[in-house]
Amino acid sequence: MLNFTFKNQTEILFGKGQLSEVSLRLPAKAKVLFLYGGGSIKKNGIYDKVNTALEGADVIEFQGVEPNPEFETLMKAVQVARENDVNFILAVGGGSVIDGAKFIAAAVNFEGDPWDILIKGAAFENPLPVGAVLTLPATGSESNGNSVVNRKETSQKRAFSSETVQPVFAVLDPEFTYSLPPRQVSNGVVDAFVHVIEQYLTYPVNAPLQDRFAEGILQTLVQEGPKALATPEDYDVRANVMWSATMALNGLIGKGVPQDWGTHMIGHELTALHGLDHAVTLAIVLPSLMFVQRDKKQEKILQLGERVFGIKEDDKDKAIDLTIKAVQDFFESMQIKTRLSDYDIEKSAIDGLVENLERNGLTALGEHGDIDLVKAREILTLAA
Ligand code: NZQ
Ligand code: ZN
Repeated sequence: MLNFTFKNQTEILFGKGQLSEVSLRLPAKAKVLFLYGGGSIKKNGIYDKVNTALEGADVIEFQGVEPNPEFETLMKAVQVARENDVNFILAVGGGSVIDGAKFIAAAVNFEGDPWDILIKGAAFENPLPVGAVLTLPATGSESNGNSVVNRKETSQKRAFSSETVQPVFAVLDPEFTYSLPPRQVSNGVVDAFVHVIEQYLTYPVNAPLQDRFAEGILQTLVQEGPKALATPEDYDVRANVMWSATMALNGLIGKGVPQDWGTHMIGHELTALHGLDHAVTLAIVLPSLMFVQRDKKQEKILQLGERVFGIKEDDKDKAIDLTIKAVQDFFESMQIKTRLSDYDIEKSAIDGLVENLERNGLTALGEHGDIDLVKAREILTLAA
């Protein structure tokens, strides 16, 4: 096992009615920026519930954070936060709103162009505290320090990470997910699945506890994910999916083990250039990445196949093929197609994707840093 430090500052408020706990956790003399997305919370009643929970506090709303949150929109929210001396951000939504809140939190007291936080990793001081009310289990953003921001103007999707902007609390009420459209249920399950894979499917370092944590989350997602589509108002199913997605990326399972993240980095370029949903990009890239990296990942692919998908096959090559197929079948069972052609993206688009990887300095991806532009092209070509 590799050395590590571990701390997760987010207080999880899990279950029915936990939103009422929020008011007890706001700073004294709170001036709250209530940040949300395109308005789904107004249709499903969460908006009213949040307002009730915030009764008595000084609240300013900012609506309109898009999926794949747009830099320009977030900068408008930064302006609102500055003008109103906001001292707390409450993000109500999925990963995009929560990621957006983290960026706003970092940018408010940043002197200079906040784009530098994303593009140059510029240091920032005195970020605002963030709280989260999660409505879409997927990214784990509710209890990690990551933020991914899109900028259409430059066709870039960039991330920064800091525990100083990690939510201090996160409300996880599974009932808030009943209103999710099937497409977002699927996205969430697949994103969480791939988060685990990025931290698990590398090479063994004799960390059996992390392996079992990871396999437990993967098995739960494989079992419960399709049920969330079939029986959307089953509380227990929703609760298990929600907790799995949080545990998939709150830092725990990745401690002391190598991590990959190649699928995510290549996937981000597909969103930046072609606007595909984040999870869709992962479902396209992962099976091909597994194929191209099959020798380096051999032991863990075999372990995944046997322990998560119950594959029993002595011939190693066959077992690897069956495991890749099982992953692909799982994505398809979640109603997400796994080829570029399924989304009308032609082979000729691969040049642009590889160029963007180069422009963003993503030329040595994966746990060995060996996914260079040649391999990235091979992966994308295989996914065509
Ligand atoms: O905009 P609203 O009205 O909120 O509607 C959203 C949006 O249209 C809707 N939705 C959310 N909760 C709902 C709901 N609709 C009905 N009922 C509900 N309860 O779902 C749509 C998608 O929301 P979004 O927040 O974009 O989805 P997701 O949570 O998948 O977040 C994706 C973003 O997170 C980033 C991705 O790159 C992408 O930008 N990621 C963040 C990570 C992190 N912070 O650690 C890691 C991930 O790998 C990922 O990169
Ligand atoms: Zn992801």
